[in-house]
Amino acid sequence: MTEAIKPSDLTGSLRQPVNVRLAADGLSVRILDQTQLPNRTVYLDLSLPEQQYEAIAKLRVRGAPAIGIFAAMAYAVAAARSQQTDPAAFIAELAQFSAYLNRSRPTAVNLSWALRRMQAFTVARQTASRPQLLAQIRQEAEQIQQEDIAMCRAIAQFGLSLLHDGDTVLTHCNAGPLATSLYGTALGPVLLAQEQQRHLKVFADETRPLLQGARLTAYELQQAGVEVTLICDNMAGLVMKQGLVQACLVGCDRVAANGDAANKIGTSQVAVLAHYYHIPFYVLGPGSTIDMNCPDGDHIVIEERSGEEIRSLYYREPMAPQGIHFYNPAFDVTDHNLITAVITEKGIIRPPFKQELARWFA
Ligand code: MRU
Repeated sequence: MTEAIKPSDLTGSLRQPVNVRLAADGLSVRILDQTQLPNRTVYLDLSLPEQQYEAIAKLRVRGAPAIGIFAAMAYAVAAARSQQTDPAAFIAELAQFSAYLNRSRPTAVNLSWALRRMQAFTVARQTASRPQLLAQIRQEAEQIQQEDIAMCRAIAQFGLSLLHDGDTVLTHCNAGPLATSLYGTALGPVLLAQEQQRHLKVFADETRPLLQGARLTAYELQQAGVEVTLICDNMAGLVMKQGLVQACLVGCDRVAANGDAANKIGTSQVAVLAHYYHIPFYVLGPGSTIDMNCPDGDHIVIEERSGEEIRSLYYREPMAPQGIHFYNPAFDVTDHNLITAVITEKGIIRPPFKQELARWFA
């Protein structure tokens, strides 16, 4: 189904997110299909595990926190649709569902985090009557979304405290409301500033090959009335050299215990450039993206995607010769030495990250 998005839907002014919602009957999750933006506003109602898996794998729903929220709601749908009357069989079916959905994308820790949280919640209440249990599971999934809204708001406030009116920030990929719930992480300070009638400007990297920066970040910021300038990924160095950028703000899919941070492919190049030009480089994300069980970036699994995304996806005709080899890693890891601070809902975490992250998140 198709309906319009209002500009306020993408800022904090609206109390409910538009990207992921559990249906009133609890039997499907409605998502805004992000592969169709910015040209079409299409909502999909997903009730079957295969549809939900496909939605994550194809990036119809994307962005680490949004994937976690979606997974929690998909779990609630699986519980509501289960035919198992025996509590042990019900728990086993949900464990199987979680393992299946968890295989849809490997890098963002929020996916496994949300599914583990939902399963632990269910196991702890398995003796409750089924209607009671289903109502509680639904509430827990919606609670994850509400917590994300509060976390994004807190992240936005901390992030904004590091910026000055009139600053221009550079961002890579999309870490706005579409990737979270409201505000976003990297775009949170910008949207909050806009709400408070303060003025920040943005350079958005287009973010090859899937163009999240062009399709989603530029769209969200334009809708919200923020002054945004779209650049190709290979222009970031020039705008930094020209003194046009005062800070870099990026999201994250998994932050290891030593502060190494996985985010969209190309992020680490931005960090290297920012380091060279002495521009602060901030990684913004909720606590659910910090993986204290992952010692460093070498232990983060990087998703590899089809070469067709490079060759042909957004071109009218293929832009590489037939039979050429492709390498299409979807993420890279920014070395913790290049990160000025990790901004979470708990505060602004500065080096030494190993000690500081352990203090806040152990
Ligand atoms: O492949 P995507 O579009 O899911 O990648 C998204 C990113 O890399 C985001 O920056 C990250 O998930 C943080 S979203 C708040």
